[in-house]
Amino acid sequence: MWYKNEVSKSLGIQYPIIQAGMAGGVTTPQLVASVSNSGGLGTLGAGYMSVTGLQEAIKQVKKQTDLPFGVNIFIPEAPQYNEEQVNLMGKLLEPFKKELNVLNDSQGIKNEIDFEKQIETLIEEEVPVCSFTFGSPPKEIMKELKREGIKVIGTATTVEEALINQECGVDMVVAQGSEAGGHRGTFNGTYEDSMIGTFSLIPQAVDAVKIPVIAAGGIMDGRGMIAALALGAKGVQMGTAFLTMKESGAKDLHKRAILQAEETSTTLTSVFSGKPARGLSNTFTNVMKKYENQLLPYPIQNELTKEIRKVAGNQNNKECMSLWAGQSPRLSKDVYAHELIDSIVKEVEEGLHKLTR
Ligand SMILES: Cc1cc2nc3c(=O)[nH]c(=O)nc-3n(C[C@H](O)[C@H](O)[C@H](O)COP(=O)(O)O)c2cc1C
Repeated sequence: MWYKNEVSKSLGIQYPIIQAGMAGGVTTPQLVASVSNSGGLGTLGAGYMSVTGLQEAIKQVKKQTDLPFGVNIFIPEAPQYNEEQVNLMGKLLEPFKKELNVLNDSQGIKNEIDFEKQIETLIEEEVPVCSFTFGSPPKEIMKELKREGIKVIGTATTVEEALINQECGVDMVVAQGSEAGGHRGTFNGTYEDSMIGTFSLIPQAVDAVKIPVIAAGGIMDGRGMIAALALGAKGVQMGTAFLTMKESGAKDLHKRAILQAEETSTTLTSVFSGKPARGLSNTFTNVMKKYENQLLPYPIQNELTKEIRKVAGNQNNKECMSLWAGQSPRLSKDVYAHELIDSIVKEVEEGLHKLTR
């Protein structure tokens, strides 16, 4: 059977279909549990979660499924910046704050994410799978996770990053092509050099590493899954396809914008967070583009634009929200997660039959 392979066996799932951990509220416990209950691997996007938020979300997932699920977290970074840069960015963001009537903006820069505590929580809660982005997990943490029997998934945007992940001891690695929605996982080398399309990245990563490679970026249906398997990937990770699911916590406006978007609708932008990410172009990405050189590093820029994004979301103003999406929005669907997974499985089976007839 095409779906019985190292990835599905190692993760204890039926189909090697992973719902990407998407930080920022998309991956509700309902979505995660629904994907796991349908034979895939649901993943909580916990990158921005506090420890209590993470504990609560894990408990909610466990209430809804007994099957394996994952938690995705961010490898922390040490941003270099000064007050002067912060003040300048504050001025550049002022017109948006005025326009949106952002009142509650005096909280300053807070970075309350405690990576070590997030890891402790995963261990305490006996989470079966942990995936990382923005770097490879430190050796000590890898040892701890392995000792607890937690499966670890890394993220790479180049062959070199896949090799670094392998060296670090991860069980499998997601190869994220440039089509992918959301933030680039790049951590070694420049973002520009790491914009490798899924079709190029997967076979080269597969040839270079011994661990299983999971394809990500632009995959939305059975055709994409067959292509990924044909290129040597042992599974797929999909973000945009799951974002528009009925159980997803993405705002309706965001879902609708993706459902109506075209392949040319996205852009790679750092203006929201200080780190390149793919999303639908809007007024904020277009206007702020000219200030790319003045952006603060991640996660400081993310903090500075937080209130703007929040207020815009509350006002249903998609022109100032980050509308993360990959390059295949025409293939997105407004259905339940089990319907998406069932259709992928059916399409793969029919597609393989056609190819071998
Ligand atoms: C809204 C959104 C948020 C994302 N957040 C994360 C995240 O928190 N962690 C992560 O490893 N990847 C994240 N990603 C990237 C996915 O892991 C994956 O690489 C990407 O979705 C694949 O491309 P696709 O969107 O075309 O399926 C995000 C993607 C989207 C669309």
